[in-house]
Amino acid sequence: MKGIVLAGGAGTRLYPSARGISKHLMPIYDKPMIYYPISTLIQAGVVEILIVTTPADNANFVRLLGDGSQIGCSFEYAVQKQPNGLAEAFILGEDFIGTDQVALILGDNLFHGKGFDEHLADSTDPKGGVVFAYSVPDPRRYGVVELDESGSALNIEEKPERPRSDLAVVGLYLYDNSVIEVAKSITPSHRGQIEITDVNLEYLRRGQLDVKVLDRGVVWLDTGTVDSLSDASDFIRVLEGRSGLKIGCIEEVAWRRELVSSSDLRRLAEPLRSSGYGDYLLSLLRH
Ligand code: DAU
Repeated sequence: MKGIVLAGGAGTRLYPSARGISKHLMPIYDKPMIYYPISTLIQAGVVEILIVTTPADNANFVRLLGDGSQIGCSFEYAVQKQPNGLAEAFILGEDFIGTDQVALILGDNLFHGKGFDEHLADSTDPKGGVVFAYSVPDPRRYGVVELDESGSALNIEEKPERPRSDLAVVGLYLYDNSVIEVAKSITPSHRGQIEITDVNLEYLRRGQLDVKVLDRGVVWLDTGTVDSLSDASDFIRVLEGRSGLKIGCIEEVAWRRELVSSSDLRRLAEPLRSSGYGDYLLSLLRH
């Protein structure tokens, strides 16, 4: 399965901060925001990753992440000229996806918690589409899915005025290869975007959309606003401080999955020592 991280968009909800730099390069506590979705993909075994950025920011992403080989992955980059919608990722990424299945993760979504890895690992061979739902207090900000008693999806609406449930569709989507054709067939919405919700509705219409409800043991944070970004930083700081373990640490995840050797990890750690991040990586080798 291939992976796409969507790190374009204008980030206007974080203005003025996101005017000079992509929000995905801003820190959530001790590492850039984009480390979190990348680590989620690597944890799921997805190591060929396309990072979709903007014309202004692409070079900064390349400077930060390179070609991925340093952590046993392969990173490619695609530039999205305008924020034309989430589903444009499959059109921009057509050659990259080739004949494979694909996971799309939003660059400002953060997942953590017990049971999440299993959910994801169970979903990496989709026969249609797989999406995840999470109960939220403010569903109007999201794509909202309505389920029947057996847990099958009845409907999905993007940012509905009157949500029919409190289940938000989170920013992680897995599809079979037909998603490229589905994305190409979508007409842009009233806000001029190729909506991921329309892709999901097409899979639903075909009877091929699997909705998995994430339980309360899983934490899902969307970090696209000033308050949610600050909350996410606090959350990571507290959790890392209490457990002594880092969340979203791509080098650690790659090392645990044996994509990098211990001597490679030591080499990666050296230039990162003055922030404490490198010392953390070295401590993994000692334990
Ligand atoms: O966070 C989950 C929600 O994400 C879903 O529940 C919604 O159904 C989905 O539409 C999306 O809603 P948002 O309003 O949160 O999407 P936003 O415009 O904030 O973009 C999400 C990420 O994708 C963000 O990291 C920027 C990036 N992006 C966005 C657009 C529109 C791109 O890279 N290109 C784009 O064209």
